[in-house]
Amino acid sequence: MNHEESGHPFLAVHRILGERIHALLKSNEVLHPHISPVEHEKDFIAFPLRSVEFSELLKNEISAITNQPLRLIKHTPHMMEKVDPHTRIQEVVRNWLKHLASNEALANQQAFLDTLPNKWERLGELILFPSGSFGQNIWTETSNEERYELWRAVASALNVTSVGIQSPVAKDTVRSSQAVLLLGSSYVNFIDHGIHYEFDACKVMFSSGNVTERRRIGAMDMNGETIVDAYAGIGYYSFPMLINAGANHVHACEMNPPSIDGLLRGAEANGIADKITVYQGDNQVSLPQLKGIADRCHLGLIPSSEAVWGMSLQALKTTGGWLHVHMNVKEEEIEDWKDSAINQFQSLSDAMELGFSIRGDHLERVKWYAPHVRHVVFDVECRPKES
Ligand SMILES: C[S@@+](CC[C@H](N)C(=O)[O-])C[C@H]1O[C@@H](n2cnc3c(N)ncnc32)[C@H](O)[C@@H]1O
Repeated sequence: MNHEESGHPFLAVHRILGERIHALLKSNEVLHPHISPVEHEKDFIAFPLRSVEFSELLKNEISAITNQPLRLIKHTPHMMEKVDPHTRIQEVVRNWLKHLASNEALANQQAFLDTLPNKWERLGELILFPSGSFGQNIWTETSNEERYELWRAVASALNVTSVGIQSPVAKDTVRSSQAVLLLGSSYVNFIDHGIHYEFDACKVMFSSGNVTERRRIGAMDMNGETIVDAYAGIGYYSFPMLINAGANHVHACEMNPPSIDGLLRGAEANGIADKITVYQGDNQVSLPQLKGIADRCHLGLIPSSEAVWGMSLQALKTTGGWLHVHMNVKEEEIEDWKDSAINQFQSLSDAMELGFSIRGDHLERVKWYAPHVRHVVFDVECRPKES
């Protein structure tokens, strides 16, 4: 045998013999399932091996076909093209089916492959498949032990330690997560564009779909500002406002204890714990304590943050400031809604004699929330009337 270089083992053969050797390696389960073959020198192709330890019988058979001793080479990882994760999961399922007690399952291979989820969300070491995934009878009819083996193999193929399934966010006030954990731990810890987030994904929802809005808010100039975040959650917006936008301090209102736990841990991990004051409890109670202190209020609750519109105006300094108003609005009603929101803010300000003139600025379409319904954020500027 001839070993060249260091790295992962590959078997190099003349490309004329490629198809035949590939089939032989595959049928003997010697071919590595997650690494692609690579070109090797002129006219040679190299197949990735699971290991160089395979039967003498097979080695002799290959030598007889190639008419030369086995040519084992090593490729460094950067020369290996990883197979895409969807193909890896399919491969995992094929292997798993082979070891199932029921032969019927193997016969139904295509039905299993057809119902495999083709997207998922990664939160640190946890993969969350969409709601309803693996819910069809073919999956649920396998035993718990068999499914546990599958989750282990899926986790390993996707390079994580934990696997779960999303469920629709609860319709409770705190919009709890209802994700179900299948393997590992639901406590996640990850960095998104330089910002640490930490939380229990089975208790607290995290909307990856709001990533563009987190970036937009983080890209604003809030240098030296004092912010009131009326629905702080685990710091989805508080952290980008402090870390990226340059805000000086965030007064963070939050009523859900698991979210507060994540908010405090994340603030610590980001080194900004001294820049956040947490107000635990209903913002109807905490916001009235925050009158006249803010340059900006973030109102990040959908379907509507209307419950705090009046209190957020009162939280602004007498010099005025900005409001970022989240809302679910039907696409065709967005323009009308903007006008009515401005009128409503103006009426609230006038009724409370705050003296603000209210002006609508940019409206950001964050994502589709439901058919025809957009999650939007309206940037509203409030300034003293005389200015
Ligand atoms: C939907 S989450 C924020 C999600 C975030 N916008 C995202 O991008 O994923 C809204 C947060 O507001 C909190 N909340 C809801 N009503 C509240 C209230 N009346 N007082 C304080 N916090 C509240 C919830 O517990 C939750 O953490």
